[in-house]
Amino acid sequence: MAFETREEKNLSAIAPALLRWYGRNARTLPWRVGPKDLKSGAAPDPYHVWLSEIMLQQTTVATVVTRYGEFLERWPNVVVMAATPLDDILGAWAGLGYYARARNLHKCAVVVASDHGGEFPDREEALRALPGIGDYTAAAIAAIAFNQRAVVVDGNIERVVSRIIAIETPLPAAKPIIKQYTNYIWPKARSGDFAQGLMDLGAGVCRPKAPSCSSCPISSHCDAYARGEPGRFPVKAPKKPKPIRTGVVFALRNRKGEILFERRPDKGLLGGMLGLPGTDWLVEQGRAGPGAGDAFTKTTWKKTGSITHIFTHFHLTLEVYVGVAPKGFRRSSNQQWIAPAKARLPTVMKKAVELVVEKSKR
Ligand code: ADE
Repeated sequence: MAFETREEKNLSAIAPALLRWYGRNARTLPWRVGPKDLKSGAAPDPYHVWLSEIMLQQTTVATVVTRYGEFLERWPNVVVMAATPLDDILGAWAGLGYYARARNLHKCAVVVASDHGGEFPDREEALRALPGIGDYTAAAIAAIAFNQRAVVVDGNIERVVSRIIAIETPLPAAKPIIKQYTNYIWPKARSGDFAQGLMDLGAGVCRPKAPSCSSCPISSHCDAYARGEPGRFPVKAPKKPKPIRTGVVFALRNRKGEILFERRPDKGLLGGMLGLPGTDWLVEQGRAGPGAGDAFTKTTWKKTGSITHIFTHFHLTLEVYVGVAPKGFRRSSNQQWIAPAKARLPTVMKKAVELVVEKSKR
């Protein structure tokens, strides 16, 4: 691999400076064994590390901090989680997004309980073979739970390293270059502390906008800082605009004030989660009118408004219709009546239901 701006110059001084900083500035996080406790002999629980890393894959630390405790309380170890029905885990996951993670969480728990005697393997390769564990997560668990020297690159670390080296290649093409440099600066000892230290530095100091270089322990090793333009890195390829998709959902109400929900197919977006019945979500192709709702009941549908939601690959607008269940209506087996406040829904469906509830008050 060709390096862009410098050879191994001074890179070995980065780890000691960062680790010293982490020793004093580590964030207290519910899944973390901090550097002082680690030094006193406390050991991270691999189950805690795995659970937190899966939750953190696409969700912010602030959100995971508020939700992690519930998971740990309900499922204190991997064997208990493995014995839980998937639907309970999907319900607890509601609102966290990227629901394939919840299905893989369950699958992985089952494999660890049945094939590994309830113990997570400690090697990166063996971890990577488990459901829901990719390159990043395997390295993070190996480093943080088992203190293995595994090179962890998440979004924060990517930013820190791209600034240290002032990498001009735009992301995503820069990823292998960043990984190579991250490997260069990675220490043999205290691998887990180093990973978490870089994460904390990225989150609190080497922030995406307005980095706080005056409080950075490694600014003297940072090429982007030396050039006076840390905010320009990482360089990113221009983003393609997201397509807009539209669809219709139908909130059928009964006399108890409940709404008819249905479980979405296991495969695909929001797989296995509860939602309102509705049309497919397609790139603007003319509007599906309420006629589509006749497919599951004869009722008069009234439009209450629309909601929007941003997914990773598209923007969605959903028109929301409300109707009252006609006499003799029978739900099908994948449908259930639930009081709106009790339904554990993905955020897009929660928005639609909140609109229905809000409008019905007026
Ligand atoms: N983001 C992803 N994993 C993390 C961790 N272990 N600590 C802090 N932030 C994280």
